[in-house]
Amino acid sequence: MKFLATTSLMLLCSTAVLGHFTVTYPGSRGFDEDKEPQAPCGSFDTVTNRTEFPLSKGFIEIDSGHVKADIAINLVLNQNPTSADFTAAAATPAAKVSIAQPDANCLPVDLSAFAGAKDGVNGTLQIVYNGGDSPLYQCIDVTLKSNAAAWDPSKCTNAATPTTGPTPSPTGSAGSNKVTGAIAVLVAVTAGFLAL
Ligand SMILES: *[C@@H]1O[C@H](CO)[C@@H](O)[C@H](O)[C@H]1NC(C)=O
Ligand SMILES: *[C@@H]1O[C@H](CO)[C@@H](O)[C@H](O)[C@H]1NC(C)=O
Repeated sequence: MKFLATTSLMLLCSTAVLGHFTVTYPGSRGFDEDKEPQAPCGSFDTVTNRTEFPLSKGFIEIDSGHVKADIAINLVLNQNPTSADFTAAAATPAAKVSIAQPDANCLPVDLSAFAGAKDGVNGTLQIVYNGGDSPLYQCIDVTLKSNAAAWDPSKCTNAATPTTGPTPSPTGSAGSNKVTGAIAVLVAVTAGFLAL
């Protein structure tokens, strides 16, 4: 009962947020809200400057407009990938993550077991975000590194405590206020039920 009420409240809230997502860390090729549904890279089709991306314990930080989304992260190990390369890479995603909260979400991307991934190899990470309407795309050009000196692990934050996670994030932002608000409404609704 409590779970269902929470879920329906979350769904109600989701209609108020825009249905796109942005990559907040590391930098993507570029973002155009209107063209984000264009495969393979949301209309940014050429390689830009590369970020040194850690081979193990990497992540991509996004800002999600949807409460729920299924996300695939594909990796093409090419200097200059084509659309066909991304299509082929989708058969063996580097990571798959389902999120269940809007705003800040940290998506783990560990490439240490990915075929061909090793120190110094160039590639492009493609994020395919499916929030229930048309899929949205962003790309990040990278050089894989065993030791990515400039990588900032503190950029991995989540807006609210994931339902499966043990500890609340100390860096919660606007999203946690929304959830707190939702919980307040839920308490009021539950109290209403009990009063009946
Ligand atoms: C690429 O470099 C430019 C200029 O230094 C910078 O503004 C931009 O954010 C960089 N993009 C990425 C994806 O790192
Ligand atoms: C990786 O990409 C950079 C910049 O595009 C380039 O200078 C470098 O030679 C590439 N490295 C390899 C191993 O292809």
